[in-house]
Amino acid sequence: MFDVMKIRQDFPMFKNNPGLIYFDSAATAFKPQPVIDAVTDFYTRHTVNTHVGDYDLSHYVSGLFEETRETLRRFLNARDAHEIVFTNGATSALNLAAYGWGAKHLKEGDVILLTEAEHASNVLPWFKVTEMTGAKVEYIPLENDGTLTVENFRKAMHEKVKLVSVASVTNVLGYVVPVKEIAKIAHEYGAVVVVDGAQSVPHVKIDVQDLDCDFLAFSAHKMCAPGGSGVLYGKKELLEDTDPLMVGGGSNARFDLCGNLKLKDVPWKFEAGTPNSEGVLGMKAAAEYLMDIGMEEIEEYTKELNAYFVEKMQQLDNVILYNPKATAGIVTFNVKGIFAQDTASYLNTQHIAVRSGNHCAKLLLNVIGTSETVRASLYFYNTKEEIDQFVEVIKGTTIEKCIGVIL
Ligand code: ALA
Repeated sequence: MFDVMKIRQDFPMFKNNPGLIYFDSAATAFKPQPVIDAVTDFYTRHTVNTHVGDYDLSHYVSGLFEETRETLRRFLNARDAHEIVFTNGATSALNLAAYGWGAKHLKEGDVILLTEAEHASNVLPWFKVTEMTGAKVEYIPLENDGTLTVENFRKAMHEKVKLVSVASVTNVLGYVVPVKEIAKIAHEYGAVVVVDGAQSVPHVKIDVQDLDCDFLAFSAHKMCAPGGSGVLYGKKELLEDTDPLMVGGGSNARFDLCGNLKLKDVPWKFEAGTPNSEGVLGMKAAAEYLMDIGMEEIEEYTKELNAYFVEKMQQLDNVILYNPKATAGIVTFNVKGIFAQDTASYLNTQHIAVRSGNHCAKLLLNVIGTSETVRASLYFYNTKEEIDQFVEVIKGTTIEKCIGVIL
């Protein structure tokens, strides 16, 4: 049974920051004790290199490192643990898909379909691919409220589209995108589907076989794992046809004086250099922790919190809410007449942590009509009581109070 008060006891950040209302989990999530223990265990008992040492400690860490792929395979319901490539976050995973697959396979005249709601990390790598290949970017039209419908996607799809890359939950509006339907239609045209899962994987049960996406990129630090950990999932046959972004130690099987190079198999060919072992082991602990609670339970609770939050915010006369239909824990708004960053700075004085600004989604301005918003983002450790306190503070937020903070 889901018990948020019990769950909060697993997170030392709450004990060490009494009174803090942390509504910035879309940026990064707090870490539970089992994740901290996994990292501490690495630093205090097993601080050795992975894969390269011929001694017990290195064998032990290497075993745990490779077991993490199996844990992540289960977490995503991938077919094969070798479809899990460790990266240092969603950004590097998306860059790997873009440069490694996109730049290798796309050519002049091909089209990459994106939306205006994408985070910079799911736009800029594709811009670079267009410079490298002569392919071009087109955008799937969004509805006026920023949602992406299957109908609009179908209209935007055509024979020249070779790749579609969308977030399954967008990072400003928090809307769930119908990725499964999109993948089905895209595949009818033979296009490859890349999913930015940075804001969905932490909150929603993801089954990559059911979605049938070709690549899925996410940052594990947003799902309670250590910073600098993330994953690129890819269907094995596509990963085999993807070039690595980096080459070096650990990724090659052999090379010789003539410059002949034989890379290792997938996924190791993508993991040159000493890996972030502590991050990977922490990611294992995080995925196990989330699976123990149950991703369905987390998703359900987040929806309930989100609906409660939206209902409360809609009752406030001084608030413009940009995403009333969100379900994945992101509530984006402005206090009328107050610059978003001033609101966020005032909230900080009330021990409330939120993000303000454009949230790296600079194209969204064209859709919602403002580049600056306040984003309150929840996770399964937040409570309705915190939302009540937050709403009370927002209710009393005035320009005078905000100016008081600036002066
Ligand atoms: N990508 C993170 C966010 O949306 C940092 O806040």
